[in-house]
Amino acid sequence: MDYRIAIIKGDGIGPEIVDATLLVLDKVGKEYGHTFKYEYLLAGGAALDDSGEPLPEKTIKECKDSDAVLLGAVGDPKWDGQPGNKRPEAAILGLREALGLFANLRPAMVYDELAFACPLKPEIIEGGLNIMIVRELTGGIYFGKRGTEVIGGASGSGEFVDHLRGEKTLPSGRFAYDVEQYTEFEIKRIAHVAFDMAMKRNKNVMSVDKANVLDSSRLWRAVMEEVHAEYPEVKLDHMYVDNAAQQLIKNPKQFDVIVTSNMFGDILSDEASQITGSIGMLPSASLGEGAFGLYEPIHGSAPKYAGMDRANPVATILSAAMMLRYSLGLGKEADAVEKAVEDYLAAGYRTPDIMTEGKIPVGTMECGRQIAALV
Ligand code: IPM
Ligand code: MG
Repeated sequence: MDYRIAIIKGDGIGPEIVDATLLVLDKVGKEYGHTFKYEYLLAGGAALDDSGEPLPEKTIKECKDSDAVLLGAVGDPKWDGQPGNKRPEAAILGLREALGLFANLRPAMVYDELAFACPLKPEIIEGGLNIMIVRELTGGIYFGKRGTEVIGGASGSGEFVDHLRGEKTLPSGRFAYDVEQYTEFEIKRIAHVAFDMAMKRNKNVMSVDKANVLDSSRLWRAVMEEVHAEYPEVKLDHMYVDNAAQQLIKNPKQFDVIVTSNMFGDILSDEASQITGSIGMLPSASLGEGAFGLYEPIHGSAPKYAGMDRANPVATILSAAMMLRYSLGLGKEADAVEKAVEDYLAAGYRTPDIMTEGKIPVGTMECGRQIAALV
């Protein structure tokens, strides 16, 4: 079959890791008789350089007209200090919103071959670690009301009633706020994603919130319980986010699926990726209502390694596998890519980030070629 894939290479190491991944996708096409048509699009720093806009309309439109989006990485320190809407990150947030990608799947697993890289004591991860973080992606504080004001003084807006803290006025000076907010609708739909995911895994969901302090978390917890009633086979537990941050280090094997808000998911998914010790190996999927999705490695654009042919493309290759599985319905092909990655590791190939003595050094493109050959 023919598939149309929007390709956003992005900034830093983005172009290289995507190029290496396309070698693998092309091989999948050849082996299984599919044609992947690539539509190359700009977003992030590359788009800012090109047009002054981090997320051009054309990119959004072409993404919508595709079966899936594969993204390398966006971000470039060159744009640090710019206002929020003129930073590369605005492209990521804009894409998530414009494409309705409310569910972010971030697996954190440890490969046997790379278990030594895990910074935790061996006994803590013995027997394998495989967590799926389901992060709500288009709500919460990321998309709540925000603003910066000056209270009092010459340029100030005068008296500002602080509804949040119940005070009548705030002391004069600058004031900024970002509101954490969730609707029942948003919590329900992410809950379904988490429970459906758990049904395909170990039927264990940990919902992470801050219900001892936040109203939005109390609603989150209540709605999780309500949706849970539809999944009697799944075990649901709740944990406060600060405790979850500790438990991820102390006993990460207790987790199967973690479901949490946008902000908490941002932080916990970075923490979880770090305990696997191989951030260059972890993929992610961002999904909406239908099959359409956006796939990207969880790591960033690593500008200091750009163009050096040393970045690890495996996270992007595994993201492409998720794309085959979730957006294109090609489960067999996705399995083949994941198996090829395992075989590649077993054969001893290593990019610099995971290199150890006695292994075979490869660069970004060679990694892509080897994995493609193993598909
Ligand atoms: C991520 C990133 C983004 C986020 C940034 C780049 C906007 O940290 O995907 O986790 O905070 O969601
Ligand atoms: Mg993040």
